[in-house]
Amino acid sequence: MRHTITLIPGDGIGLEVSHAVQQIIGAAGVDILWEEIPARAEIERRGQDFMHSGVLESIRKNRVALKGPLATAVAGGPPSINVGLRKALDLYANLRPVKNLEGVQSRYLGVDIVLVRENTEDLYSGLEHTVVPGVVESLKIITEKASTRVAKFAFEYARKYGRKKIHAIHKANIMKLSDGLFLTSVRKVAENFPEIEYKELIVDNACMQMVINPHQFDMLLLTNLYGDIMSDLAAGLVGGLGVVPSGNMGETVAIFEAVHGTAPDIAGKGIANPTALLMSAILMLRHVGEREAAARIEEALHLVYRQGKVLTRDVGGTASTAEFTAAVIAAFA
Ligand code: NAI
Repeated sequence: MRHTITLIPGDGIGLEVSHAVQQIIGAAGVDILWEEIPARAEIERRGQDFMHSGVLESIRKNRVALKGPLATAVAGGPPSINVGLRKALDLYANLRPVKNLEGVQSRYLGVDIVLVRENTEDLYSGLEHTVVPGVVESLKIITEKASTRVAKFAFEYARKYGRKKIHAIHKANIMKLSDGLFLTSVRKVAENFPEIEYKELIVDNACMQMVINPHQFDMLLLTNLYGDIMSDLAAGLVGGLGVVPSGNMGETVAIFEAVHGTAPDIAGKGIANPTALLMSAILMLRHVGEREAAARIEEALHLVYRQGKVLTRDVGGTASTAEFTAAVIAAFA
């Protein structure tokens, strides 16, 4: 079956890693018509604004996108396009599976945790104002609607992929109303999934437990801020942001992306590691029903890491992006 998928190569190393991933998926025999969005610099040269260049229409039509990293100015400058895309397309659940990749040095082995982070509200609503000089108020918004739908997403994911246990992470002992509403909403959803064990844990304890014994966790369900922090913490347990995938999921559309940035220090040198984007593409292939191809690519990737002969510099090797890509393709059974 042919899939039409929007490709946003992104800035910096984005073009290098996304083309590597396209090659690997093509070699695995998946029939994808990529609708490629031009580089941001090119769109801006034409006098257009990225968000109004047809990218939203393309994703809404195709329902699935693979996205490379996009640069965001720190303090000032235009708002983040990454956040803009999530808002415009109402991508309410951030999916972050965290699992060891054998061959990558890490603190723990045997970690296999899926984090689901609410992606639209909480302290990320951007509602801040100066009350009087020297005093700023930043609003934490929690709604029953958003909490319920992200909980449904997590429990349905658990059911679909055979997960056994979900911990909701909160600070409802202090933020009794906001995190309290999150918990009561999640509990209601949990009642409809009796086969999945449901537990709750206060966020500070959850961080400590993750560091001491990550193996006790199966899935975590979190509000936006705790999810942001704990998903990077979880990535750190298995070797960092370069070896974990992510998906931003909405009711009808989804964007899969690596969580690392544009790596301006190595952009254009042909040495970027496409692993994180490839892992995100594997998630994407499962999402569109290409489970066999996803498993094939995953096995090949694991084999290349296990052998450890053709790896990029960030993970201790000397290979270029092209050499690594060729090694993954050569590892197809
Ligand atoms: P970064 O992730 O781009 O780089 C941090 C370090 O990791 C650098 O040394 C870089 O060379 C290395 N690195 C990152 N990805 C790599 C890869 N695939 N292969 C090999 N090495 C890799 O983080 P930084 O420098 O904080 O951000 C740079 C830009 O990226 C900023 O404009 C930021 O806003 C943007 N960014 C975009 C994201 C997205 O689009 N989802 C996520 C994070 C940052």
